[in-house]
Amino acid sequence: MVKDALEALKLPPLLKFKNGKTVKDIAGFERRRAELKDILQREVYGYLPKAPEHLSVETKEEESESFLAGFGIYRSLVFHCEIDGEDATFPVTQIMPKKEGKIPVFVCINFGTDIVHKYLPLEEIIHRGYGLFVIKYQDVAKDSADFRFGMAKYLCKSRRALSAPGKIAMWAWAAMRVMDYLPRFENVDLDHVAVIGHSRLGKTALFTGAMDERFRYVISNDSGCSGAALSRGKEGETIENICDRFPYWFCPRYKHYIGKEHEMPFDQHFLLSLIAPRHLMVGSAENDLWADPRNEFLCTAAANEAYALYGMQGLVHHDAFPSPDTELAEGDCLYHYRRGGHYLSRLDWNAYMDFIDKKREKE
Ligand code: GCU
Repeated sequence: MVKDALEALKLPPLLKFKNGKTVKDIAGFERRRAELKDILQREVYGYLPKAPEHLSVETKEEESESFLAGFGIYRSLVFHCEIDGEDATFPVTQIMPKKEGKIPVFVCINFGTDIVHKYLPLEEIIHRGYGLFVIKYQDVAKDSADFRFGMAKYLCKSRRALSAPGKIAMWAWAAMRVMDYLPRFENVDLDHVAVIGHSRLGKTALFTGAMDERFRYVISNDSGCSGAALSRGKEGETIENICDRFPYWFCPRYKHYIGKEHEMPFDQHFLLSLIAPRHLMVGSAENDLWADPRNEFLCTAAANEAYALYGMQGLVHHDAFPSPDTELAEGDCLYHYRRGGHYLSRLDWNAYMDFIDKKREKE
């Protein structure tokens, strides 16, 4: 069923080099990886801005006595990035459980950093032994077509180039700066760092993890169009819809594909396959038809070709579409399909933490 559905979509081949030769092994896929990264940057998200010349982090505020009834440590950090000799900054909130040993952490690109944010069941995450670095996305760059403020002014000098970075690339760039800095924290478990985001920030988490192999877990919650969902045969939001309302999320060239999904030399399985051989987690919600759970599932399954090259299973799906309230968690990737609508809930976080716990136990 899944195989037939994927064949019917006639996706551009993942495992064929630009020169038409077939990718046969891991070394081949590592070369193909460079082509995949290039095509996605050139056609969809824009080229990632380069890393800053220098990075330093300032602690503005720390609360380590009674935060979360004494179970957690809170720090408000400011990231200073030297770009072309200028000091460009954005804030990050760090929250760690108070415990011995190495701590797995989430880099969470969120809509807000508030401790009581509706998408962040903070106490649950801390009690389960995970740390958090939260970026409030609009503190990096405004969610608008304006490129004059915040980090945008340093990261994109002109939007005239067809492959100039859009806002998703900028939010992803900020998550990578957090990753740059993590080795400075002695208690962070660098082998177990996850990047997570919901919806537009799920697209951002995927792009982050696809471009930056230091993230071991990449979590997309309800990311839909131009995220975890295949564009070919997509229900709900299309490239036309997304480019109409949010053209600035992408590079200027992306809009050329409006109505031409079937001609695109790529599809979103290129993005998901770049997560291999690490762990990809895709969450969909039954009523989130705008995102299109079916195409999110199919896209996750399509990335299996890359995992197979590493001798891995990728997503174990038994050739069938899952029913709601199902976890496909047997393989290297997770597909988490719940009832309800478009949000990131405690239930979703727990599914993602369960999966990471399982992988960590095996090591
Ligand atoms: C809109 C947009 C989606 C996006 C979502 C969100 O619905 O069309 O592509 O994922 O906003 O970020 O909440």
